[in-house]
Amino acid sequence: MNMYDLILRKREGGTIDTKEMYDMIVDYTNGRIPDYQMSAFLMAVYFKGLSDPETLDMTTAMAYSGEVLDLSDVGGVTADKHSTGGVGDKTSLVLAPLVASCGIKVAKMSGRGLGHTGGTIDKLESIPGFHTELSMDEFKDNVRNHGIALMGQSAKIAPADKLLYALRDVTATVDNISLIAASIMSKKIAAGTDLIVLDVKTGSGAFMKKYEDSMELATKMAWLGKRAGKKVEYVISDMDQPLGNMVGNALEVKEAIDTLNGKGPDDLKQLCITLGGLMLTGTGFAKDMDEAADMLNDAIDSGRAIGKFKEFIKAQGGLPEAIDNPEMLPESTLIEPLYATQSGYIKHMDCEKVGLACLALGGGRFTKESVIDLSVGIELKKKVSDEVKEGDVLAYLYANDKEKLEDAREKLMEVYEYSATPVEKPELIKFISRD
Ligand code: URA
Repeated sequence: MNMYDLILRKREGGTIDTKEMYDMIVDYTNGRIPDYQMSAFLMAVYFKGLSDPETLDMTTAMAYSGEVLDLSDVGGVTADKHSTGGVGDKTSLVLAPLVASCGIKVAKMSGRGLGHTGGTIDKLESIPGFHTELSMDEFKDNVRNHGIALMGQSAKIAPADKLLYALRDVTATVDNISLIAASIMSKKIAAGTDLIVLDVKTGSGAFMKKYEDSMELATKMAWLGKRAGKKVEYVISDMDQPLGNMVGNALEVKEAIDTLNGKGPDDLKQLCITLGGLMLTGTGFAKDMDEAADMLNDAIDSGRAIGKFKEFIKAQGGLPEAIDNPEMLPESTLIEPLYATQSGYIKHMDCEKVGLACLALGGGRFTKESVIDLSVGIELKKKVSDEVKEGDVLAYLYANDKEKLEDAREKLMEVYEYSATPVEKPELIKFISRD
């Protein structure tokens, strides 16, 4: 395998065969291909694309570049869920204990937030004592004994993707659908669960702004997973406005706790019931989505779901008392309203800007090294289709620093677009693979 030849061939729109792809990924992971050649190859892929067989080869090569978890001995059907990321997306915090309380073994590897989107691990770390640095054995023990475990992306899982993703991040080659699909699915395949449920976001706060791109990504990921012998289900869900009302780490944990207690916002609950329905039907725990919804609602109403959340938090070092007393979570010193400057109906929200306003408050990372303030964020009081009168509170900003608060306020002011006439509520779930 000659890397120069592969770069040239891809640049001219040619094809890379299976052995060449495997050798390239192995050699790059082992430091035998320099970053400058891999960057050139990625840029050629960015412009010329990868065929489906090439994407499958890349995914498989990356998945097997490290350890592939064997979960066959945890005693039950295992499932994982992946979201392509958004603003206010605390779905995993609700969904994982919810489906675990119905009997599914949830084995989840999650990431931290970067840029305008949050990360599940950062959010959970606002619970005092909670940690996600588990060894593979501890991870499997927790899945076996508690039916739920969540850990950070282990360096042993798909190391080729870790290196390639970091390189793509600095060479403007992230936003290619085949590369994204291969990257996500290599990690999910290596993580070893029987079922993978994908929540592919679409809209102004998502990676994929256009529905067609989200659908292409979802179908490609599902195809890759199925070729690897996994059961894969997916939804395309709206990210043209934040999910729920809270954006920011500890604030989102509080909203997740409310939802597990049956008092959360409708959109978050709807998404969790839908994704949970795919998990329960996909693993044979429920015969159809209606039966699954009944089981999930019962888990919330009976207190089993919040009970499972507390068990999970305790098993990973967190203080379960903080779940009953959310004032034990980090709280900001300043809470200030943002007022509407005109009357009308909210027609559109620039969702990414809400994420950027949270970032400006210190609630996210500008770089991988940034330290985040877990207590800050935004509480949305009005969302798309709501009627607003001039002077109404649109949102509250939770901050610890006056200057950052003013910066975030300026950004948040630019989020809202108004209409003089009523506006329809946008559909949250745009596509379900099982329909
Ligand atoms: N998330 C990933 O894990 N990989 C990508 O390429 C993009 C988003």
